[in-house]
Amino acid sequence: MKRREFTNLLGLGLLATSLPVAIAACQSDSTSEAEGQGSGEFTTVGSMADLVAQGSVSTTVKGQDLVVVRDATNPDAVLAVSPVCTHAGCTVDWDRAEELFICPCHGGRYSPDGTVVGGPPPKPLATFEAKVEGDQVMVKV
Ligand code: FES
Repeated sequence: MKRREFTNLLGLGLLATSLPVAIAACQSDSTSEAEGQGSGEFTTVGSMADLVAQGSVSTTVKGQDLVVVRDATNPDAVLAVSPVCTHAGCTVDWDRAEELFICPCHGGRYSPDGTVVGGPPPKPLATFEAKVEGDQVMVKV
């Protein structure tokens, strides 16, 4: 075997043995990125003082519109729901006096936790995990 043939074979051998390691490393990186995006870290969406003053906080997190209101059963807790009505997709409004989400299109009514309490909506509003830390209102999307 000539020297050049030997070095070519050696190079091919190294490439062949390191390729699976390189592929595994790339897959490992992409998996951890996907897990990071899907893990749903809590995001601060406002202060409890603002929530109390305004009655609700409407915001968008990671492209998801949501509304946060106080939990009437626990004044230290908050509830986060999607404002998209499950009947035909209109945006519900928070009625502070009635403590209900009311859909302006066909009168759908939802409790603060998104449960349907009246009208045509076929299912509850989508909900998100929410919490209060100190004065910060946080939601996981
Ligand atoms: S779209 Fe909300 S009740 Fe019809």
